[in-house]
Amino acid sequence: MVKTPKESLTIFTDIVLPGESNPLGNLFGGELLARMDRTCSIAARRHSHAIVVTASVNHVAFNNAVPVGSVMTIEAKVSRAFRSSMEIYVDVWVEDRESQVRSKVNEGIYTFVAVDKDGKPIAVPQIEPETALEKERYEGALRRKQLSLILSGKMKPTDADELRTLFIG
Ligand SMILES: CC(C)(COP(=O)(O)OP(=O)(O)OC[C@H]1O[C@@H](n2cnc3c(N)ncnc32)[C@H](O)[C@@H]1OP(=O)(O)O)[C@@H](O)C(=O)NCCC(=O)NCCS
Repeated sequence: MVKTPKESLTIFTDIVLPGESNPLGNLFGGELLARMDRTCSIAARRHSHAIVVTASVNHVAFNNAVPVGSVMTIEAKVSRAFRSSMEIYVDVWVEDRESQVRSKVNEGIYTFVAVDKDGKPIAVPQIEPETALEKERYEGALRRKQLSLILSGKMKPTDADELRTLFIG
């Protein structure tokens, strides 16, 4: 079975409250991570129709602070599926109150695994990317998976074919 990234699209819009801020009056990083994780988990569940667990947070860039009072939108989509694991890309936007123009403040890449009721990994549908951005993210996903497995000690660097191709050719 093959599905498109947009079938898993999950959008979470919320306002940043003072109780969620750091001493500079910006959203606390851990709070943002939790919201990103929740949004990604719904995208993974929509793709797999299964119980999903976070296997890895592969990348998070806190490029811009999110001030208290901001209206923040978190958008997540499955970028690629392997056997039981799914890479989820998540983008974070804030919107200007007057113009309502959105600007991107953060992004992240999560890996979720679909599991059965005993927590055992199960197969998920594959992904057919449609847009140019979806294709770009799909293409890079195997490299990121191998890097994540190396960093977590689950893969030997010498077995990472895709990374070798990137660095050595
Ligand atoms: C994630 C989990 C299900 C993986 O189980 P496992 O016994 O290692 O199973 P496998 O080795 O078959 O891995 C399953 C898939 O996850 C992928 N995976 C595991 N760790 C990974 C990592 N760090 N980065 C990227 N992918 C990873 C594997 O490559 C495999 O992918 P594939 O089936 O698509 O090829 C298991 O480690 C787990 O339950 N972890 C706890 C999850 C959790 O509680 N999360 C919330 C944290 S509070």
